[in-house]
Amino acid sequence: RSSRRRSAAPELSLPLRPRRLRRTAAVRRLVGETRLHPAELVLPMFVREGIAEPVAVEAMPGVVQHTLDTLEVAAKEAVEAGVGGIMLYGVPVEKDETGSGATDPDGILNVALRRLRDALGDETVLMADLCLDEFTSHGHCGVLAEDGSVDNDATLRRYAEMAVVQAESGAHVVGLSGMMDGQVAVCREALDAAGHTDTVILAYAAKYASALYGPFREAVASSLQGDRATYQQDPANAVEALREVRLDLAEGADIVMVKPALAYLDVLSAVAAESDVPVAAYQVSGEMAMVEAAAANGWIDRDRMIHESLVSIRRAGAQIILTYWATEVARSLRG
Ligand code: PBG
Repeated sequence: RSSRRRSAAPELSLPLRPRRLRRTAAVRRLVGETRLHPAELVLPMFVREGIAEPVAVEAMPGVVQHTLDTLEVAAKEAVEAGVGGIMLYGVPVEKDETGSGATDPDGILNVALRRLRDALGDETVLMADLCLDEFTSHGHCGVLAEDGSVDNDATLRRYAEMAVVQAESGAHVVGLSGMMDGQVAVCREALDAAGHTDTVILAYAAKYASALYGPFREAVASSLQGDRATYQQDPANAVEALREVRLDLAEGADIVMVKPALAYLDVLSAVAAESDVPVAAYQVSGEMAMVEAAAANGWIDRDRMIHESLVSIRRAGAQIILTYWATEVARSLRG
């Protein structure tokens, strides 16, 4: 439909009018600087051992802890919708001090990786969370020293083993989310020594000790008491994030990530300027929960907010975005 018009002579002589490029949806579409594409979205998924039906995660509407069967169905739906990858988390029945389930080839996460790799082959990018917190009785991301502190170097030995088991179970990408010093170097060395030179390392390079992970802890039935402030970063620091990124790049990270996303767009933008590998951002559980809760109250337009948050994360410099809305958004982008 045409909207040609000529108005009366303007009151001001004003040749520079930015609003010209905002007049119609078509012009706005033409000049849009940032676009979302399904292939850049990664869907985090939870698989829980020992359940017969999926269990809803209350604070994350639409997210469930899957059985192995429903995991496969939902993963296929995500791939069908065009998402770029899947990030998998396991919720075991048994937890112990060292997180044995993480390195047991019959542990839930590794079983689920085999299942999805068998079902999907190389059709998608299968990623595994490489961290001990879902598997430890104390809920920390590493093993503890005698004094109760998280033992960095003892944890690295566990991570190295975990990387190899995950690669052998079918992970294309291992997602190192534990924030231990040296974790990228140690996992790269272990993977290479075991012949897994093709396994990609996604380093959660700048991961903050954030209150925004609250709903996730329900999703993985976390047993954590206290916090992760001795290993995850202080929200006050941005320069430190660049150091973490430089170290991870030097250790061989193939992709670096900033997490959470929306409250850390300054960090994301600085990391994108520094990195010569793809940069990812994680729109975490609390970011989702805030939008869903406000929308459920009628206080915010859910769909617009989802789109705006993802566009903003892209605009700040993320090339890949982990989001619990990945399948839904991928579908809506495809129309
Ligand atoms: C640790 C891990 C966490 C998240 C992803 N990996 C939790 C934590 O650090 O406490 C949080 C993701 C989210 O909140 O969506 N394995």
